[in-house]
Amino acid sequence: MKTLSFSNGIAIPSLGFGTFQIAPADSENAVKNAIAAGYRHIDTAQAYVNETEVGAGIRASGVARNEIFLTSKVWVENAGYEAAKASLERSLKRLNIGHIDLMLIHQPYGDVYGTWRALEDAQAAGDIRAIGVSNFTADRAVDLGVFNRVMPQVNQIEINPFHQRTELVETLQQENIIMEAWAPFAEGKNGIFHNAVLQKIADKHGKSIAQVIIRWLLERNIVVLAKSEKPELMAQNLDVFDFALDDADKAAIATLDSGESQFVNHASVERVKWAKTSVFNI
Ligand SMILES: NC(=O)c1ccc[n+]([C@@H]2O[C@H](COP(=O)([O-])OP(=O)(O)OC[C@H]3O[C@@H](n4cnc5c(N)ncnc54)[C@H](OP(=O)(O)O)[C@@H]3O)[C@@H](O)[C@H]2O)c1
Repeated sequence: MKTLSFSNGIAIPSLGFGTFQIAPADSENAVKNAIAAGYRHIDTAQAYVNETEVGAGIRASGVARNEIFLTSKVWVENAGYEAAKASLERSLKRLNIGHIDLMLIHQPYGDVYGTWRALEDAQAAGDIRAIGVSNFTADRAVDLGVFNRVMPQVNQIEINPFHQRTELVETLQQENIIMEAWAPFAEGKNGIFHNAVLQKIADKHGKSIAQVIIRWLLERNIVVLAKSEKPELMAQNLDVFDFALDDADKAAIATLDSGESQFVNHASVERVKWAKTSVFNI
């Protein structure tokens, strides 16, 4: 598996398995299957309400803990120094796999400065190996680092052919912040798995549309989080290291950018209000 390196030297596998919207009852098995397929990077979050089962899947996989990279995320209801610190302890307990490799602030709302200092302290204490953010704009991600001790090592955002985020990606990569793509397949929205432009490129390389998208992201040094509950698709999504896109492929994919999220505008007033009322008791 190809890896990228954080500014503190820790390596992160460039292709990860996403567990959003996998039911808690199915999550242990899905993670076990993903690790059996070859994934060594698993992405969960407090708000996915499956940390317990994700940890159980890792423990049941038979693969050594130090070969697995595990990410979780602090939800908005746990924002602020004390609340974030207590929630980290709950996450560590639920996961029950020792340290967390990467902990992110899931959403850019509430007392993110208090949360960030709790993450910095947990990293210094060795409970977490790397810390970062998710769904942040470039200025807010860098602001956290510049006015605190640690620069975010990651920003995990929506990136897919319909929402390419080129400027944000390049700006933060120049700051040595690793960019991660969530919803690389736009969760199937907008007919992505039947898109004619992507299908032509896929046919040319004898690959699937999903494989073309993953390759397009990896070639921009973006960590990809792909989710499937089907073992054959888990394996297909890993089988992307035997071909490369050419300039014509990349130019064709560039034409698909709508500049708009396929899901939600994190900078909208509605989203801030939604975050305040989105409570999971986690
Ligand atoms: N930080 C955030 O705010 C945030 C937000 C969303 C997601 N994420 C992370 O990013 C991960 C990935 O995003 P996502 O789960 O939202 O969406 P996604 O990976 O873009 O799409 C998942 C969908 O694509 C299907 N699929 C996967 N591989 C396929 C293939 N090779 N061929 C055809 N269909 C395929 C899956 O089907 P089946 O499952 O039925 O096989 C599922 O319906 C999440 O699981 C989560 O870890 C983070």
